[in-house]
Parts: sequence; C-alpha cells; structure tokens
Amino acid sequence: MAFENILVETFDAVGLIRLNRPQALNALNAALLGELNAALEQFDADERIGAIVITGSEKAFAAGADIKEMQALDFVGAYRSDFLGEWEKITRARKPVIAAVAGYALGGGCELAMMCDFIIAAKTAKFGQPEITLGIMPGMGGTQRLARFIGKAKAMDLCLTGRMMDADEAERSGLVARVVPSEDLLDEALRAAARIASFSRPVVMMAKETVNRAYETTLGEGLRFERRLFHSMFALEDQKEGMSAFVEKRTPAFKNR
Ligand code: CAA
Repeated sequence: MAFENILVETFDAVGLIRLNRPQALNALNAALLGELNAALEQFDADERIGAIVITGSEKAFAAGADIKEMQALDFVGAYRSDFLGEWEKITRARKPVIAAVAGYALGGGCELAMMCDFIIAAKTAKFGQPEITLGIMPGMGGTQRLARFIGKAKAMDLCLTGRMMDADEAERSGLVARVVPSEDLLDEALRAAARIASFSRPVVMMAKETVNRAYETTLGEGLRFERRLFHSMFALEDQKEGMSAFVEKRTPAFKNR
C-alpha cells in the first residue's frame, strides 16, 4: 500500500512509522489516520516484526487533530460518524508500540503518544492539551488517559489551562519513560524496540496485555489475570530456554520470535 501521510520502514524485527505531514506539523487528519491504522495492522500481522515505533519530525510529533478539517464540523456529523472513534484502533495493536516524541505533542498528538505503550521523549518534546483554547476539550482520550497516567492535579492543569509541559516535567509526572538528547531519540527508541523484539514474542505480548489490564479492572482481578497468564508461561519452550540459559550462563535463543 502506498502512503502519502506517513513513511514506513523496517529495521530487522522493528517496524518504524514516521508521521509525515510537515506542512501541517503532522496534524492528524482522516487520511493520516487511515494510513497509520493500515501500517500498524500490517506490522502487527507481520511475523518478522516484534515491536513498532511511531515518531514524527524534529519539530513536531503531531500538533493535534487537524483543526482545518474540524472547523466546519457540526454536531450531527460528528455524532453520526463517531468522529475520532477510529483512533481507538491504535490501541488494538498486540505488539508493543513505542512513541518517540520530539517537539510538539499537542492535543491529539499527546493523545496518540498516550495510546502507545510507552513514550521516549527528546529534550525538545512539549506535551499539552490546548483544545480549551479552541473552544473544545480533548476528544481522543486526553481527559481519561492523562488523569490515569499523571493524576488529577496535572491532568486538570493541562486540560483547563492549555499550557504545555516540557520533557523533564513529563518525565517527573510519569507520562514519559525516558528523556534523551534530541539527536539520540530515534536510535534510543529503535534500540528499545529491538531489545523487546529479541524476547519471546508471546511473553512480550502477554506482558503488554497484562500491564494494560491494570487500567481496565480492579487490583484483585488484575492480579488474578496476571497469575493465570504467568502460570501459562510454563507451557512455553521459551520459559525452559530462558531459565536453562541463565543457569548455564549463556544467551538464550528464544524460539517464538
Ligand atoms: N491542525 C491543522 N493545522 C495545523 C495544526 C493543527 N492542529 N497545527 C499546526 N498547523 C499548521 C498551521 O496552520 C500552519 O499552517 P499554514 O502554514 O498553512 O498556516 C503550519 O501547521 C505551521 O504551524 P504554525 O505556523 O502555527 O507553527 P508555529 O511554530 O508558529 O506554532 C504550534 C506551532 C504552537 C504547535 C501551533 O501550530 C499550534 O498552536 N498548533 C495547534 C495546536 C493545537 O491547538 N492542537 C490541538 C488541536 S485540537 C485536538 O487535537 C482535538 C483532540 O483532542 C483530538
């Protein structure tokens, strides 16, 4: 499939998707969404791929949903088409997805980064939910995911004032897993993805599924879910290989990759 709004590459077992609408600071329009979902689905289904990285440009990961596309939208049109509902598909990828963020991650850009499994940020990254300045509020998960990921105080601050948060504050707040110098961003994200892709794939996918469960259920149910999947891992050759390799002081050769 030929893409116009994203660039897609592979690095061994890692799939890389670059948002590519430089003229609009990677504003997220319907065409870009369709391509991003298609590329993610392809990588998710591709047996050679073990992890995926989504990134933008040096100036912008994404400066939000496309304001020019939304400007003339009316209520009935938004409601009937379930406008923005398709973005939830990003979270259906079963393989890990890392957001590598430099520059602006605003509105839908911040929300897209939060739909990924974790965020690695360049020093230049700026996160925010400026929708309030446009006479709307976040609509791709910002109010819900920010509140869960960084707590009520900062979620309210960002959503109600529309201010931006720099990379260091985002890391202190727990939004971002790592902050790295800008020039190292892509290498760091690709290295992390390659490391993930080197492990047993079913175990990686189950670990992702189980951490995500923590956001959907009670602690008791989540712990039971974890234990059941943990038990199931003893049915894997990769568990025998991983533990034998440790005992024999060698590098494991996982089969399910
Ligand atoms: N939608 C459409 N176009 C956008 C855009 C967006 N979200 N963000 C930037 N652009 C366009 C600009 O209109 C401009 O295009 P033209 O050259 O044709 O005028 C181009 O990208 C470059 O932008 P600027 O000239 O504004 O660049 P800057 O460096 O001066 O400012 C910025 C950068 C502070 C990020 C500024 O562009 C900005 O404030 N953008 C909008 C941010 C925003 O409000 N995002 C939330 C969108 S709503 C949303 O996302 C809802 C939701 O929850 C899903």
